[in-house]
Amino acid sequence: MFNVIVFGPPGCGKGTQSVRIVEKHHFLHLSTGDLFREEIKEKTALGDIVSKFIDRGLLIPDSIVMRELYRYALMHQDAKGIVLDGFPRTLIQAEALDKVFFKKKLKISLVISIEVEEEELQRRILSRAEDSGRSDDKLEVIKKRIEIYHKQTKPVIDFYKKHHILETVSGMEEKDIVAQKIDLIIKKYLK
Ligand code: AP5
Ligand code: MG
Repeated sequence: MFNVIVFGPPGCGKGTQSVRIVEKHHFLHLSTGDLFREEIKEKTALGDIVSKFIDRGLLIPDSIVMRELYRYALMHQDAKGIVLDGFPRTLIQAEALDKVFFKKKLKISLVISIEVEEEELQRRILSRAEDSGRSDDKLEVIKKRIEIYHKQTKPVIDFYKKHHILETVSGMEEKDIVAQKIDLIIKKYLK
């Protein structure tokens, strides 16, 4: 099973590139953000809880994220690979994922970190905001999301650096170019 983490700040292109990887390799796309937005759309009790965090640009508590992730992963045990988009986002999540994978004799094959300049992140999300309908696509919340990324999520990079499975890609180029670069990296790791 080939498991890849697509990592990076809000608006760097995690979702865009994850979809391309999934289409090409027929992996499972596991976006924690999409998962929680679906709960909000369906007006579930969980959706009600998580919207309070998402609306403010804050991270959802690790315990909730891990529970939902296990639930989702259990339903898709036959996947030939998983693209993790927006997870893990804290060291606690990264360590918990490691433990679960170890127990199931699985491993993280690759972590792709997409780097984009801060002004461009804001520009992209604000332009998406015109039709995304996302409650967190507002300037103040975008700034908070980027701040939280630096404080709570970026340290996860060092965790994977130690495992020697981290590859960095510039996300400043066109979507197709970024996708080509990612594809080359995946081919290398698939060998
Ligand atoms: P999540 O849904 O993961 O959002 P995010 O990380 O803030 O990132 P985005 O989805 O906004 O951006 P993206 O990197 O996917 O870029 P995209 O491809 O869309 O999380 C949302 C919230 O949910 C969190 O704040 C938190 O509250 C909660 N949450 C989720 N996971 C969690 C977890 N594990 N733990 C705790 N809480 C969690 O691209 C953005 C735009 O740019 C698009 O319009 C796209 O078309 C465009 N674009 C993409 N690539 C390019 C390019 N190369 N050139 C030009 N434009 C581009
Ligand atoms: Mg996304």
